Amino acid sequence: MKTKIKIFKGDITNIHVEAIVNAANNTLLGGAGVDGAIHRAAGPKLLEECKKLGGCNTGEAKITKGYNLNAKFVIHTVGPVWYGGKNNEEELLASCYRNSLELAEKADVRTIAFPSISTGAYRFPIEKAVNIAMCEIKKFVEKNDTIEEIIFVLFSEKDYLLYKNKVKEIFGFEI
Ligand code: APR
Repeated sequence: MKTKIKIFKGDITNIHVEAIVNAANNTLLGGAGVDGAIHRAAGPKLLEECKKLGGCNTGEAKITKGYNLNAKFVIHTVGPVWYGGKNNEEELLASCYRNSLELAEKADVRTIAFPSISTGAYRFPIEKAVNIAMCEIKKFVEKNDTIEEIIFVLFSEKDYLLYKNKVKEIFGFEI
Protein backbone atom coordinates (compact mmCIF):
# COMPACT_ATOMS: atom_id res chain seq x y z
CA MET A 1 0.00 0.00 0.00
CA LYS A 2 1.56 3.30 -1.06
CA THR A 3 -1.00 5.74 0.32
CA LYS A 4 -0.14 7.31 3.69
CA ILE A 5 -3.00 7.48 6.23
CA LYS A 6 -2.75 10.30 8.77
CA ILE A 7 -4.89 11.51 11.66
CA PHE A 8 -4.91 15.14 12.85
CA LYS A 9 -6.86 16.88 15.59
CA GLY A 10 -8.02 20.39 14.71
CA ASP A 11 -9.78 22.52 12.14
CA ILE A 12 -9.89 20.94 8.67
CA THR A 13 -9.70 24.38 7.02
CA ASN A 14 -6.12 24.73 8.29
CA ILE A 15 -4.87 21.52 6.69
CA HIS A 16 -2.58 21.86 3.65
CA VAL A 17 -3.97 19.34 1.19
CA GLU A 18 -5.16 19.52 -2.42
CA ALA A 19 -8.77 18.61 -1.56
CA ILE A 20 -10.83 19.07 1.58
CA VAL A 21 -14.03 17.05 1.98
CA ASN A 22 -17.03 18.98 3.28
CA ALA A 23 -19.79 17.39 5.39
CA ALA A 24 -22.52 19.26 3.55
CA ASN A 25 -26.31 19.10 3.33
CA ASN A 26 -28.51 18.36 0.32
CA THR A 27 -28.80 22.04 -0.67
CA LEU A 28 -25.01 22.58 -0.76
CA LEU A 29 -25.76 26.13 0.37
CA GLY A 30 -23.71 26.01 3.58
CA GLY A 31 -24.55 25.34 7.19
CA ALA A 32 -22.85 25.06 10.57
CA GLY A 33 -20.07 22.68 11.70
CA VAL A 34 -17.54 21.70 9.05
CA ASP A 35 -19.79 23.14 6.33
CA GLY A 36 -19.83 26.54 8.02
CA ALA A 37 -16.09 26.51 8.66
CA ILE A 38 -15.27 25.62 5.05
CA HIS A 39 -17.57 28.25 3.58
CA ARG A 40 -16.21 30.91 5.94
CA ALA A 41 -12.62 30.05 5.05
CA ALA A 42 -13.25 29.66 1.30
CA GLY A 43 -15.19 32.91 0.99
CA PRO A 44 -18.36 33.87 -0.91
CA LYS A 45 -17.21 32.54 -4.30
CA LEU A 46 -17.60 29.00 -2.96
CA LEU A 47 -21.31 29.59 -2.32
CA GLU A 48 -21.66 31.16 -5.77
CA GLU A 49 -20.28 28.00 -7.38
CA CYS A 50 -22.36 25.74 -5.11
CA LYS A 51 -25.54 27.56 -6.15
CA LYS A 52 -24.95 26.33 -9.72
CA LEU A 53 -24.69 22.67 -8.69
CA GLY A 54 -28.37 22.05 -8.01
CA GLY A 55 -27.81 20.37 -4.66
CA CYS A 56 -26.48 16.88 -3.94
CA ASN A 57 -28.18 13.61 -3.00
CA THR A 58 -27.30 11.92 0.27
CA GLY A 59 -24.35 9.58 -0.25
CA GLU A 60 -23.19 11.45 -3.35
CA ALA A 61 -20.42 14.02 -3.80
CA LYS A 62 -19.73 17.09 -5.96
CA ILE A 63 -16.46 19.00 -6.46
CA THR A 64 -15.80 22.73 -6.52
CA LYS A 65 -12.76 25.00 -6.37
CA GLY A 66 -11.30 25.84 -2.96
CA TYR A 67 -11.07 29.63 -3.47
CA ASN A 68 -9.50 31.21 -0.35
CA LEU A 69 -8.78 27.82 1.23
CA ASN A 70 -5.26 26.33 1.02
CA ALA A 71 -6.93 23.45 -0.82
CA LYS A 72 -7.40 23.57 -4.60
CA PHE A 73 -10.71 21.72 -4.35
CA VAL A 74 -13.60 21.16 -1.96
CA ILE A 75 -15.41 17.85 -2.35
CA HIS A 76 -18.89 18.30 -0.92
CA THR A 77 -20.55 15.10 0.22
CA VAL A 78 -23.86 14.68 2.03
CA GLY A 79 -23.87 12.15 4.81
CA PRO A 80 -27.01 10.41 6.09
CA VAL A 81 -28.86 11.61 9.16
CA TRP A 82 -28.91 8.78 11.70
CA TYR A 83 -32.46 7.55 12.31
CA GLY A 84 -31.52 4.33 14.12
CA GLY A 85 -29.84 2.39 11.32
CA LYS A 86 -32.82 1.02 9.42
CA ASN A 87 -32.76 3.64 6.63
CA ASN A 88 -29.68 2.38 4.79
CA GLU A 89 -27.57 4.91 6.75
CA GLU A 90 -24.47 2.70 6.86
CA GLU A 91 -24.39 2.15 3.10
CA LEU A 92 -25.06 5.84 2.45
CA LEU A 93 -22.15 6.87 4.68
CA ALA A 94 -19.87 4.34 2.95
CA SER A 95 -20.84 5.80 -0.42
CA CYS A 96 -19.90 9.29 0.81
CA TYR A 97 -16.31 8.12 1.26
CA ARG A 98 -16.32 6.06 -1.96
CA ASN A 99 -17.75 8.85 -4.11
CA SER A 100 -15.46 11.49 -2.58
CA LEU A 101 -12.39 9.36 -3.31
CA GLU A 102 -13.57 8.67 -6.86
CA LEU A 103 -13.99 12.41 -7.51
CA ALA A 104 -10.57 13.08 -5.98
CA GLU A 105 -8.97 10.47 -8.24
CA LYS A 106 -10.69 11.93 -11.34
CA ALA A 107 -9.33 15.38 -10.40
CA ASP A 108 -5.79 13.94 -10.03
CA VAL A 109 -5.73 14.91 -6.36
CA ARG A 110 -2.69 13.61 -4.47
CA THR A 111 -3.62 14.62 -0.92
CA ILE A 112 -7.10 14.75 0.64
CA ALA A 113 -8.53 15.51 4.10
CA PHE A 114 -11.79 14.08 5.45
CA PRO A 115 -13.81 15.24 8.46
CA SER A 116 -15.82 12.71 10.44
CA ILE A 117 -18.84 12.82 8.13
CA SER A 118 -22.34 12.65 9.69
CA THR A 119 -21.10 12.31 13.30
CA GLY A 120 -22.02 15.84 14.38
CA ALA A 121 -25.41 17.39 13.63
CA TYR A 122 -26.43 14.21 11.77
CA ARG A 123 -25.93 12.14 14.92
CA PHE A 124 -24.36 9.07 13.25
CA PRO A 125 -22.78 7.00 16.08
CA ILE A 126 -19.06 7.68 15.75
CA GLU A 127 -18.03 4.12 16.71
CA LYS A 128 -19.94 2.84 13.64
CA ALA A 129 -18.89 5.77 11.44
CA VAL A 130 -15.16 5.35 12.07
CA ASN A 131 -15.36 1.69 11.05
CA ILE A 132 -17.24 2.51 7.85
CA ALA A 133 -14.81 5.31 6.99
CA MET A 134 -11.70 3.22 7.55
CA CYS A 135 -13.05 0.15 5.71
CA GLU A 136 -13.92 2.27 2.66
CA ILE A 137 -10.47 3.90 2.68
CA LYS A 138 -8.84 0.45 2.92
CA LYS A 139 -10.86 -0.87 -0.02
CA PHE A 140 -9.87 2.19 -2.08
CA VAL A 141 -6.12 2.16 -1.28
CA GLU A 142 -5.90 -1.59 -1.93
CA LYS A 143 -6.89 -1.01 -5.57
CA ASN A 144 -5.67 2.56 -6.19
CA ASP A 145 -2.31 4.14 -5.48
CA THR A 146 -3.01 7.50 -7.10
CA ILE A 147 -3.73 9.33 -3.85
CA GLU A 148 -0.53 9.71 -1.82
CA GLU A 149 -2.02 10.92 1.47
CA ILE A 150 -5.44 10.56 3.12
CA ILE A 151 -5.82 12.61 6.29
CA PHE A 152 -8.66 12.37 8.81
CA VAL A 153 -9.14 15.62 10.73
CA LEU A 154 -10.99 15.27 14.04
CA PHE A 155 -12.33 18.05 16.17
CA SER A 156 -12.19 16.36 19.56
CA GLU A 157 -9.65 14.27 21.49
CA LYS A 158 -12.23 11.48 21.83
CA ASP A 159 -12.82 11.30 18.08
CA TYR A 160 -9.08 11.59 17.40
CA LEU A 161 -8.30 8.59 19.63
CA LEU A 162 -11.15 6.56 18.12
CA TYR A 163 -9.79 7.14 14.59
CA LYS A 164 -6.19 6.53 15.69
CA ASN A 165 -7.12 3.17 17.24
CA LYS A 166 -9.20 2.20 14.20
CA VAL A 167 -6.24 2.82 11.86
CA LYS A 168 -4.17 0.48 14.01
CA GLU A 169 -6.95 -2.17 13.94
CA ILE A 170 -7.70 -1.95 10.20
CA PHE A 171 -4.26 -1.15 8.79
CA GLY A 172 -2.11 -2.74 11.49
CA PHE A 173 0.15 0.26 12.09
CA GLU A 174 0.49 3.03 14.66
CA ILE A 175 0.32 6.64 13.56
N1 APR B 1 -12.83 20.85 11.26
C1 APR B 1 -12.90 19.50 11.45
N2 APR B 1 -13.97 18.88 12.00
C2 APR B 1 -15.00 19.66 12.39
C3 APR B 1 -15.02 21.08 12.20
C4 APR B 1 -13.86 21.66 11.62
N3 APR B 1 -13.76 22.98 11.44
N4 APR B 1 -16.22 21.56 12.67
C5 APR B 1 -16.91 20.49 13.12
N5 APR B 1 -16.19 19.36 12.97
C6 APR B 1 -16.55 17.97 13.29
C7 APR B 1 -17.70 17.78 14.24
O1 APR B 1 -17.23 17.87 15.58
C8 APR B 1 -18.12 16.36 13.88
O2 APR B 1 -17.27 15.42 14.54
O3 APR B 1 -17.00 17.37 12.08
C9 APR B 1 -17.87 16.28 12.38
C10 APR B 1 -19.13 16.41 11.52
O4 APR B 1 -20.02 17.31 12.15
P1 APR B 1 -20.95 18.32 11.30
O5 APR B 1 -20.11 19.40 10.75
O6 APR B 1 -22.09 18.67 12.19
O7 APR B 1 -21.45 17.47 10.06
P2 APR B 1 -22.59 16.36 9.97
O8 APR B 1 -22.79 15.62 11.23
O9 APR B 1 -22.25 15.61 8.71
O10 APR B 1 -23.91 17.24 9.73
C11 APR B 1 -24.03 17.93 8.51
O11 APR B 1 -24.52 20.00 9.57
O12 APR B 1 -23.33 21.93 9.27
C12 APR B 1 -24.46 21.25 8.87
O13 APR B 1 -24.82 21.98 6.63
C13 APR B 1 -24.41 20.89 7.42
O14 APR B 1 -26.69 20.20 7.40
C14 APR B 1 -25.36 19.73 7.39
C15 APR B 1 -25.05 19.01 8.70
